[in-house]
Amino acid sequence: MKKIFILTSLVALCLLFACNSKKTASDVNLNKHWKFMKGDDLAWALPGFNDQKWDALLPDKPWEDQGIKDYDGFAWYRIKTVIPAELKESSYFKDSLRISLGKIDDCDQVFLNGELIGENGKTILGSKVPGNEFIKEKGFWYLDRRYVLPVTDPRIRWDKENVIAVRVYDQGGLGGMFASPFVIVMVDMQDYLGFDLTEDAFTFVGDTMMKKKFSIHNTSVKENLSGSLVIKVILNENGNTIFERKSDITIKKLSKLSDSIQFKADVSKPAKVLFSFIEKRSGKVIAAENGIPYILTPKITDLPKINGAKVFGVRPWSPFLFKIPATGKSPLIFKAEDLPKGLKIDSVTGIISGVTGRKGETMVHISVRNPLGIATRDLKILVGNMISLTPPLGWNSWNCWGLSVSDKKVRQSAENMMSSGLADHGWTYINIDDGWEDKHDKDGTILPNYKFPNMKGLCDYIHSRGLKIGIYSSPGTKTCGGYEGSYTFEEKDAAMYAGWGIDYLKYDWCSYGNIYPKPTLDQLKLPYQVMKRALRKVNRDIHFSLCQYGMGDVWKWGAEVDGNSWRTTGDIEDTWESLSGIGFIQDSCSPYARPGRWNDPDMLVVGYVGWGPSLHYTRLTPDEQYTHITLWSLLSAPMLIGCDLSQIDPFTFNLLANDEVLAIDQDPLGKQATRVRSHENYQIWVKELEDGSKAVGIFNLTAKPLNIIAELNDLNLKGYQIMRDVWRQKDLGIVQLNFEMNVQPHGAALLKLTKK
Ligand code: GAL
Repeated sequence: MKKIFILTSLVALCLLFACNSKKTASDVNLNKHWKFMKGDDLAWALPGFNDQKWDALLPDKPWEDQGIKDYDGFAWYRIKTVIPAELKESSYFKDSLRISLGKIDDCDQVFLNGELIGENGKTILGSKVPGNEFIKEKGFWYLDRRYVLPVTDPRIRWDKENVIAVRVYDQGGLGGMFASPFVIVMVDMQDYLGFDLTEDAFTFVGDTMMKKKFSIHNTSVKENLSGSLVIKVILNENGNTIFERKSDITIKKLSKLSDSIQFKADVSKPAKVLFSFIEKRSGKVIAAENGIPYILTPKITDLPKINGAKVFGVRPWSPFLFKIPATGKSPLIFKAEDLPKGLKIDSVTGIISGVTGRKGETMVHISVRNPLGIATRDLKILVGNMISLTPPLGWNSWNCWGLSVSDKKVRQSAENMMSSGLADHGWTYINIDDGWEDKHDKDGTILPNYKFPNMKGLCDYIHSRGLKIGIYSSPGTKTCGGYEGSYTFEEKDAAMYAGWGIDYLKYDWCSYGNIYPKPTLDQLKLPYQVMKRALRKVNRDIHFSLCQYGMGDVWKWGAEVDGNSWRTTGDIEDTWESLSGIGFIQDSCSPYARPGRWNDPDMLVVGYVGWGPSLHYTRLTPDEQYTHITLWSLLSAPMLIGCDLSQIDPFTFNLLANDEVLAIDQDPLGKQATRVRSHENYQIWVKELEDGSKAVGIFNLTAKPLNIIAELNDLNLKGYQIMRDVWRQKDLGIVQLNFEMNVQPHGAALLKLTKK
């Protein structure tokens, strides 16, 4: 799968429409009864072709996830279905039919009754000869496949059997049809009208008021649409309406109407806002809902407090850099006693730097003071072979800026990491993803492109703040974004990275698939071994982050190729399907996580994301975002914030600056949670912590609040336990045998249980 994810606002809008679409009884469901065959033959498009011997396959999961392992290239899907003429009556407009085929990895041609009707997400009206020439080099896996035909199109056979044949070309990785919906419907109001709730975040106005902007789009080319708009704010705990507004509105054709609501809300109580528009002539209802953010993290006080990792690893003679994350009213004064020889601390910034050569473990006594008090804590420094003893915390450019990343945006992010206060909670890395590379010059030196005029200067700047900097490349000739990779230049590239001062390398498989299209396990390891050797030759600690989407169960051998972390899945998106699909399958990798070796379920999708240059506010509800950070912390996952740091809203800050939650991710024992209960409606995960206590995540998988009972037996606990609500940082009392939690829809509770 090519992973270029450019989410234009148009696609975002289409997705919103899809979410809002209301199915009528007569929609033709295409979720089942697909037939599948590997290979390629245009005769398979023909309605009369006999596909009886083909295998059955579901359309909502890639073929690799349905037992068709390691297959790339051409394959076909076919389905037979009657399209009833009465379907036309289900729509107000009655003019067009839409065939929705989820998404397709990577490229597709779609045939209806032997005739080509669509290609890579674009409808083909009239005639085009199918042939072999369709664009199959470029990954189009992220596009919605929505093919729209006029009802008068002669290729549709009303009231008769129709054959839809989908020709797929997969370039590598997962392949085939996936996502949703799979359906034939009449184009209707929901195709033209839709709410956009992701233009911005909810804003807090003082302590009791909230404000939310929204807009409604009308993409019809011919109709102005009028009706009544109803907006309600409802409390989750009792369903009470705490705000209501009704108005009559008209949304002109091809335009959008923007407005905002302001209402009184208790920012600690879950609630949601429901928008509905009832179109006057058709009576059709278009609806959307948005969870209202509620804050669980207690306010930061003026008293000095030391946050972040309690253990730090460095190789002998590598440059040392560690900034003590601390909060409290400034100015703070930092002190570190018993530092290993060669290291010193800056008492104003809290940055420990220098070089130390003696292998071994040192307990450094740290203190942070201001006029209100003093905080102390021990930091274990381990000089040895291992680095990244706790999962990296930082930011990466991909999920917000995509290929539009630049020196300016990276510097700005570092500045925002500091000024937002996030760096004071342990967020350290500022990582450049794909899009910085130019080419190797005649001496084989990698040159950054025009957007990065001075890479060394950029690294120095980031280090001067006590932060660290990461970079990205591919073992292939090209990266996933089509930029220059490291193939055959590995040693020179690693030396260059070290020369600039790079601290983290994300090494992304991408076009290496062209070198070994069907890689064996050894071939999967090979490019990472080559880069491992190159990295070990330089005098710098560079976190080695493997990115190959989990191929060959990378968690079983990532450590062998010296990976400090390895992506376990494909790319994440800001949807519940993507988040839960990735997060809840991490159990099998759990035994392989340990200090310096982390499973990586991909970067965070909170705040303003968009895969650049245009951004939208995450489509995850507040509860889904609590689940995201809770689960990632339990998984001991590297956490790289994927949003625009200049627009951190109070809710996102509350998610990222809860020191007790982060301490679970950063726990020095380095164990990953395991799933101890998997029910269709909920899951319970448990992580062992260094102090002998256990962190417990209780996740509600349903769309309704749920009371969930956890048995101490399942958690492998006996006797009385002190239970702490980690998000609220509050003890809840003593429990024995079992306890019950009320968990929000798609939400999570994070608890810490300590023996009494
Ligand atoms: C993908 C990778 C993404 C991002 C992108 C850059 O393969 O999974 O996280 O790095 O490439 O092109």
